[in-house]
Amino acid sequence: MRQHQKQYHRAARLFGSLLLVAAAGVSAVGAAPAHHGSAPQATTPLGQVVPAPASVEAGGPAYAITSNTRIRVEDHSRDARQVAAYLAGVLRPSTGYRLPITDKHGHDGIRLELSRGAKDLGAEGYRLRSDRGSVTITAHSPAGLFHGVQTLRQQLPAAVEASSRQPGPWLVAGGTIEDSPKYGYRGAMLDVSRHFFGVDKVKRYIDQLALYKINKLHLHLSDDQGWRIAIDSWPRLAEYGGSTQVGGGQGGYYTKAQYLEIVQYAASRYLEVVPEIDMPGHTNAALASYPDLNCDGVAPPLYTGTSVGFSSLCVGKDVTYDFVDDVVRELAALTPGKYLHIGGDEAHSTSHEDYVTFMDKVQPIVAKYGKTVIGWHQLTGATPSKGAIAQYWGLDGTSAAEKAQVAAAAQNGTGLVLSPADRVYLDMKYNKDTPLGLAWAGYVEVQRSYDWNPGSYIPGAPGSSVQGVEAPLWSETLSTSSQVEYMAFPRLPGVAELGWSPPATHDWDTYKVRLAAQGPRWDALGVNYYKSAQVPWPAD
Ligand code: ACM
Repeated sequence: MRQHQKQYHRAARLFGSLLLVAAAGVSAVGAAPAHHGSAPQATTPLGQVVPAPASVEAGGPAYAITSNTRIRVEDHSRDARQVAAYLAGVLRPSTGYRLPITDKHGHDGIRLELSRGAKDLGAEGYRLRSDRGSVTITAHSPAGLFHGVQTLRQQLPAAVEASSRQPGPWLVAGGTIEDSPKYGYRGAMLDVSRHFFGVDKVKRYIDQLALYKINKLHLHLSDDQGWRIAIDSWPRLAEYGGSTQVGGGQGGYYTKAQYLEIVQYAASRYLEVVPEIDMPGHTNAALASYPDLNCDGVAPPLYTGTSVGFSSLCVGKDVTYDFVDDVVRELAALTPGKYLHIGGDEAHSTSHEDYVTFMDKVQPIVAKYGKTVIGWHQLTGATPSKGAIAQYWGLDGTSAAEKAQVAAAAQNGTGLVLSPADRVYLDMKYNKDTPLGLAWAGYVEVQRSYDWNPGSYIPGAPGSSVQGVEAPLWSETLSTSSQVEYMAFPRLPGVAELGWSPPATHDWDTYKVRLAAQGPRWDALGVNYYKSAQVPWPAD
């Protein structure tokens, strides 16, 4: 298997170079079925998708989706049927075909097969086989079927993403893909605190993340500028603490029903929501809402600027832990996922001793409500609880001592999620002319965000400690979906690929060609993106 993969990767690299010469992600050499006439039709070469699949054997005739195609659910599970409905929802508007979903067994059509026996495909993997008669996606889990559907989408022409009928043809290159992720944690974070993003905007982002097999949506639900989730036992947090945002707009918050709507929508796209309540710093919105939470008993005013490091919960007061217990209990009850993120970054107004005390008291509360702690990597300066994950957000220039502290924690069993700010912070400007975003971690062009290896990034941290990657998007300068998309695309797919694909596939020169082919897809979807000069976009 290993040898086979190696050969594929060498072949893929060579093929990618050939494509690069053509400066397009679509090849005109793919085989077409005879009934589409004698001229060969353009097909996307099998496996020319983002993230790169683990293994591809291209060959044989292409499959054509036609007006006669059925979507067969080769299993009676509700989950598989829902994945079929999702696929039909992508295909029907642009093809104009009926594409009926059936659970009648058959050898033709688009076949979604949930196979108890396909354990080798793992919790998220899939196999996609395409030939003249059918495309079959096989998986051990519904998540795997869903990820296979994303690959199928990208094998089809970009026009398949359009919301109105397009001419086709709708060809899927022949061959077999076998694919499963390198890392189980492949995240994106949205800061809904600095600017609030309502449910529809979050759903829109979820749909974009799903296309690249991202499986965690980290919501940064509280910060100095706003508290964004209703907590029944402390109602002023949302009602008052959520009433503004950076620049002084009206802010907002999710009711519990709205938060659940996001959780359920994310789950329907096989993403798990990771909620974050940032503590003990980044807490002005909470401190402003309840005087009692302040050591001096005086509530500060609401804050709409962009400074950091000036607020702290009162570590010495019992009420602080009543507050944390209530918030964690209510949030955990709304969150089916495994994790609860407790922040812990930039606690510049908390003494080191207090910080350690606070984390010693708060981590067991998270465990008490059945969740696993994630914290920004400053948590490694305290005592991470057993099973905790530290999210690293340092830079190349972060001190060796700080990196060593993270590595030591990793050697001690703390898991790592990598979000180096000068690589994958999606709010960093691409260059000096980028109208949005910040630049405190430097400019981050597309190649820089892709060209690094999560498995060996922190010197001295065991590769086995790395759970995955996450691309945070902080929103000091962003308030619309269009702005979010401009910063996320085209960098986000690269982070998704680092999380999913085998390190042997990581290669900028071939990646940028696959990435370029996503541009027309985003155009068809109405996704705004930065047309980086580093990427050989197809001519319009
Ligand atoms: C952070 O960027 N303060 C985690």
